[in-house]
Amino acid sequence: MSGLFISFEGIDGAGKSTHIAALAQALEAQGRAVTLTREPGGTRLAEALRTLVLNDPMDALTESLLVFAARRDHIVRVIAPALAQGKVVVCDRFTDATFAYQGAGREFDWDVLKNLEAWVQGGVRPSNASQVLLQPDLTLWFDLPAQVAAQRLAGARVPDKFEAQPGAFFEKVSAGYARRHDEAPTRFARIDANQSPDGVWQSVLDAVRSRGLLP
Ligand code: TMP
Repeated sequence: MSGLFISFEGIDGAGKSTHIAALAQALEAQGRAVTLTREPGGTRLAEALRTLVLNDPMDALTESLLVFAARRDHIVRVIAPALAQGKVVVCDRFTDATFAYQGAGREFDWDVLKNLEAWVQGGVRPSNASQVLLQPDLTLWFDLPAQVAAQRLAGARVPDKFEAQPGAFFEKVSAGYARRHDEAPTRFARIDANQSPDGVWQSVLDAVRSRGLLP
């Protein structure tokens, strides 16, 4: 059985968390071994970098280098070995978040991010030619108007550096996700996150089933 890599994306407040756990359970119920992980994070080093990225002010290049350093460690230690063992990797955010947050939100150079992506994700899957990038097989993008996300987040918890950004920032981040979607439309499934939790879950199931990943 070959490994399968599924990522979840969306602006802060889009409501990914419960559905990530539910999808992992649904896959396990089908007998698949699931590695549930997140970015930035997933290893000791990457979690340490996450704390810095989410709390310390820094310029957008520094931020990009740190999230890609965290990603490299995560790929080498966790994601690539799990895929090689035929597991399903379910990851809360991956590289699309860097393009959306650092590229679109912070207006950092998209082409520099593409170069970092090629360095960090190139030649990871042994079955692929060295120039092929490791990317998720499926990216579930929870799309939600920035205003609605802000209302959901209001008062929920102490905001981190990104959650404290104004609505205009999240509108740019959303546009960044839309751009990534347009650059890889078959990898992405757009989930309308502006519905009830049951409706969102049904959309997640539809996306996964239509690709033959769940019965
Ligand atoms: P979350 O895991 O609680 O969603 O928080 C992660 C935060 O980090 C979120 O605001 C998005 C941000 N982020 C980036 O800015 N760049 C990245 O590459 C990733 C993976 C996350």
